[in-house]
Amino acid sequence: MTRTFDVLVIGSGIAGLSFALKVAQQGHTVAILTKKTRAESNTNYAQGGIAVVTSKTDDFASHVSDTLTAGDGLCNEKVVLEIVRDGPACVKELVSIGLKFSRTDSGAYDLGREGGHSKRRILHVKDMTGKAIEEALLHAVSQEPRIALFEHFFAIDVITADKLAARKTPSASNRVVGLYALDVRDSRVVTFHAPVVMLSTGGAGQVYLYTTNPDIATGDGIAMAYRAGVEIRNMEFIQFHPTALYSLTGERFLISEAVRGEGAILRNAAGEAFMRGYHELADLAPRDIVARAIDTEMKKSGAPHVWLDITHRNEAFLKERFPQIYQTCRKLGINIAKDMIPVVPAAHYTCGGVATNLSAETKLAGLYACGEVACTGLHGANRLASNSLLEAVVMAHRGAASVGKFIKTGKSVSEIKIPHWDDLGGGDVDERVVVAHNWDELRRTMWDYVSIMRTTKRLERAHTRIANLAKEIHDYYWNFSVDPRLLELRNLIEIAELVVTCALQRKESRGLHAIVDYPKKLRVARDSRVCKTPAIR
Ligand code: FAD
Ligand code: SIN
Repeated sequence: MTRTFDVLVIGSGIAGLSFALKVAQQGHTVAILTKKTRAESNTNYAQGGIAVVTSKTDDFASHVSDTLTAGDGLCNEKVVLEIVRDGPACVKELVSIGLKFSRTDSGAYDLGREGGHSKRRILHVKDMTGKAIEEALLHAVSQEPRIALFEHFFAIDVITADKLAARKTPSASNRVVGLYALDVRDSRVVTFHAPVVMLSTGGAGQVYLYTTNPDIATGDGIAMAYRAGVEIRNMEFIQFHPTALYSLTGERFLISEAVRGEGAILRNAAGEAFMRGYHELADLAPRDIVARAIDTEMKKSGAPHVWLDITHRNEAFLKERFPQIYQTCRKLGINIAKDMIPVVPAAHYTCGGVATNLSAETKLAGLYACGEVACTGLHGANRLASNSLLEAVVMAHRGAASVGKFIKTGKSVSEIKIPHWDDLGGGDVDERVVVAHNWDELRRTMWDYVSIMRTTKRLERAHTRIANLAKEIHDYYWNFSVDPRLLELRNLIEIAELVVTCALQRKESRGLHAIVDYPKKLRVARDSRVCKTPAIR
């Protein structure tokens, strides 16, 4: 089955929905493909809020400076400046479609504070900012007749002119012509024709055993872009959030950094507040520093977690400001007004990704990327808290402006013949256990060998194991029909390879990449880059 649109948007988080709305408003037909239900995304779980300059006591220079400091010398200053500067206007548009940020009794925005920020500048909706953003955007999208939203459609791979011609080296005429997607409920692969594909598929937290991310975060867009021959950058910079709720089930519910913004203190197994010993900003130091400090304290004491203490704030305030965190902890028998919260670091955010410019364009004509999937240069070696939602919405707007121009000058794809998926290979499945086993092995390998503190030896160990898994899944992929778990595993293996390859490229410790063999920072900061030759399936 074949469908044709002006623009395909993969993903229905803040990036994809914001972009789709802007493009449809220009008069183009848009298909949004999302692999589960429409609201399921990292966006939906965002707690702290959006970092944006709105108050008279704040300014762009201060937000820029905090971002650069957190990014540890690797941010692109021009990108930081432009994204920070575009923030207020883009956020105003979110407000115009019905998003209601929390306000104080006087009616002013109730600005939150998080690690690495020198000022209160985080707009939030209590501790459920992401859910409110999703609701507002999904409502606006539902009112737009030019947008068709396909739930349970799993994007498999971008189709390009070079792939169709089986070219081994990139040609000057290479461009996007469409995309294969699995209709999950019907178990059949559909071909979409379009000259533009926007990858807004989010991050890759699921490559680690312990993560704050929901199941959808399997790095699909990064893997797709990589397979299409597009450059991937800085994948070694995986951000571990310092404070995920410790539980024996392995789930890692986030305890927002905003809790520390309201005065919470980290304590070790002996009950001592330890962050002063690591950084002058103590509990509000940038995330890489706090996560490493917790890791060190846990290794020193042998305890499975540290404690987060907000017991000096009264219960009424905590219930009102952090209703979700309060209730979630309460269900587990923790009253955060009286009890300390057991917390551990967990994989949280993918700072690297698909290399794009400030218009969300990749080097492949017609392929765009925005949101967590992309690497614009904003985050450098460590993302500043709450800069992710900001980047996603700003880059969605910028991408839409570029796509408008691209389509006007672009070529049609309707004359291009794309082979049907079933003609490319595949067969019946008889050993699904391989997929389940390899999922677990991959995520544990990444957690044990490519975590907060790294060594070359461990990275090389991980590299060998991932290569074995890659070979096994590659054979499996070619011989059996596809399903979401297999497709996700194939993507996660690509992600793991990218993280380890980038980590091995970096002979220094910078930001989130801390490696025992190279403890110092090099004088000149450089991005790590990986690219490969594309194949048709
Ligand atoms: P997502 O919101 O993750 O959306 C990705 C979409 O792509 C989903 O709809 C998914 O189903 C779809 N998708 C993926 N692969 C495919 C495929 N193959 N085919 C079809 N569809 C696909 N950042 C902040 O700035 N402030 C915060 O307060 C904050 N809090 C956070 C709290 C938590 C618990 C987490 C996990 C993250 C938080 N972040 C926060 C990070 C932020 O939420 C994300 O970086 C951001 O929401 C990413 O938005 P996105 O649109 O790029 O991707
Ligand atoms: C949080 O609320 O701590 C998450 C904020 C972020 O990831 O930016």
